[in-house]
Amino acid sequence: MIDRTTEVVLKKLEETQHDFWNISRSTANFLNMLIKMVNAKNVVEVGTSNGYSGIWLAKALKETGGHLTTIEYYEKRIVLAQANFKSCGVADIIDIKQGSAIDILEEIPESEIIDFAFIDANKAQYIDYFRIIDRHMKSGAIITADNITSHAEKVKSFVDAIQGNKNYQVEILDLPAGLLVARKN
Ligand SMILES: C[S@@+](CC[C@H](N)C(=O)[O-])C[C@H]1O[C@@H](n2cnc3c(N)ncnc32)[C@H](O)[C@@H]1O
Repeated sequence: MIDRTTEVVLKKLEETQHDFWNISRSTANFLNMLIKMVNAKNVVEVGTSNGYSGIWLAKALKETGGHLTTIEYYEKRIVLAQANFKSCGVADIIDIKQGSAIDILEEIPESEIIDFAFIDANKAQYIDYFRIIDRHMKSGAIITADNITSHAEKVKSFVDAIQGNKNYQVEILDLPAGLLVARKN
């Protein structure tokens, strides 16, 4: 559920959506629903920006009793995200990790299980994020990734790899930038 205070913050962030490369509201609403549908608990987001998508992910996690780790390398965006998470009452269930996404993902302990990932950072690196995140995913885990149709060339290696991987059931949804959703078998 999106409360009134959060709705005010989200509407304000939507005014600068293009400056911060935020996902569309419909994509965000879908991710929020999906987390609740699969009862995801341990969620990793690659690409925080000012926290717009993170708010939607975390609001769902408040209902499932889960936790969000989100990765960003720009200090200024992290500061904005922290303030936005606080305003929306979700800061307590979010860890923001600063640094290069590949390095941060590589630091995740081998035993840690990720049950939902949202990829939305450097498009050419989607393939690398996928290869690392996959190591932490068990059957039933979900991977989502934005900009699949808007940046089709840049994300092609990732899309080819996951579509050709017999361990994943994959669909690309006709949401504004194209959202890939995959479930590990
Ligand atoms: C498309 S924006 C994320 C938007 C955010 N998911 C949302 O919808 O609110 C991508 C973000 O990823 C960050 N980023 C890009 N490449 C990165 C990398 N290699 N490591 C960490 N962060 C990265 C950028 O600084 C940018 O803020």
